[in-house]
Amino acid sequence: MGHTLRSRSAAIRAYADMAAVIYIAAADTAAGVIIQFRKEKTMNIKKAAVIGGGAMGRQIALNTAIYPYEVYVFDAKPEVLEAVKSWEDSYLAGRIAKGRMTEEQVAGIRERFHISGTMEEACEDADLVIEAVVEQEAVKHEVFKKVNALVREDCVIATNSSRMVSSTFIPDVTNPGRLCNLHYFNPALVMKLVEIVRNPETTDEVVEAMKDFCLSTGKKPVEVLKEIDGFIVNRILGAIYRESRWLVDNGYCTYQDLDTACENGLNHPMGPYRLNDLTGLDLTYDIMQAAYERTGEKPLGYDDIKKLYDQGYYGVKTGKGFYDYPPKK
Ligand SMILES: NC(=O)c1ccc[n+]([C@@H]2O[C@H](COP(=O)([O-])OP(=O)(O)OC[C@H]3O[C@@H](n4cnc5c(N)ncnc54)[C@H](O)[C@@H]3O)[C@@H](O)[C@H]2O)c1
Repeated sequence: MGHTLRSRSAAIRAYADMAAVIYIAAADTAAGVIIQFRKEKTMNIKKAAVIGGGAMGRQIALNTAIYPYEVYVFDAKPEVLEAVKSWEDSYLAGRIAKGRMTEEQVAGIRERFHISGTMEEACEDADLVIEAVVEQEAVKHEVFKKVNALVREDCVIATNSSRMVSSTFIPDVTNPGRLCNLHYFNPALVMKLVEIVRNPETTDEVVEAMKDFCLSTGKKPVEVLKEIDGFIVNRILGAIYRESRWLVDNGYCTYQDLDTACENGLNHPMGPYRLNDLTGLDLTYDIMQAAYERTGEKPLGYDDIKKLYDQGYYGVKTGKGFYDYPPKK
């Protein structure tokens, strides 16, 4: 398995070299193209910084170090930085124990994966900064302003936010063409998809560089051409949830049969109610409650979610939600 990882990254680098040759060949035939392709070459990402070492940031950073880029992860809380260190240690030890990585590969990853106590160190000479701090707009504005002051003008600055689009941060940076959303999925070490979301100013060069970066770190990028709430996946998921709750609320089927239908008729790995237990009914309740207060209308499925929430049944994490999850022996 370790060998597979190495040959895969060798193949990626070979492909990158080949692509560069193609660019130069194309440049021979059209003088105007030279500048464009030379620019493309300067977008090579060597050092990445991830701001925020929580659930998403640490996984994005470690994935980036695995493939192999130099990466610095910074978090405002020292205890989070300590937690990232012990998480990194146990994750990498686990990969060796399972035979997925060799000792040598892990030593290389450790050398490239830096946990940084300052944003200055993390951002110094970075080619790409991925912001993955708490989902609070005021905090993110501060982070974007600070990052902008620390990085080169051509450093790409991306946000991993699921809700806030990168144009929100245009006022915070000097060169908004380099902003975009780079939306990873949880757990980011495992999930392949990354949504690259353009804002009206994002340059083609930045989008192409982000596609290359995602591909070279084992991800499957898709481009969202215009900013929209929820991007692609969360909109599709929202539609599935709405329709499922409508069917159950209106008595057309039980939620158990609805899950069975999705799992066996659509080959979804789990139906929407089982998935909701996994993502947490407390989070769903908070979102529904906020929508209820904003609109005065009960969202579909509100009563069922509230009943479980009020009893402390938040899904997998509490051992009970729509389904029961007995502790593993
Ligand atoms: N959790 C998910 O499933 C998921 C999936 C995709 C995208 N996202 C997005 O990723 C981002 C982070 O989410 P998460 O689940 O990792 O959150 P989290 O709460 O686990 O981590 C956020 C981290 O940000 C740190 N932080 C707060 N202020 C900071 C600052 N000024 N500078 C540096 N670090 C700071 C916190 O200490 C914390 O460790 C959010 O924007 C969220 O929308 C989350």
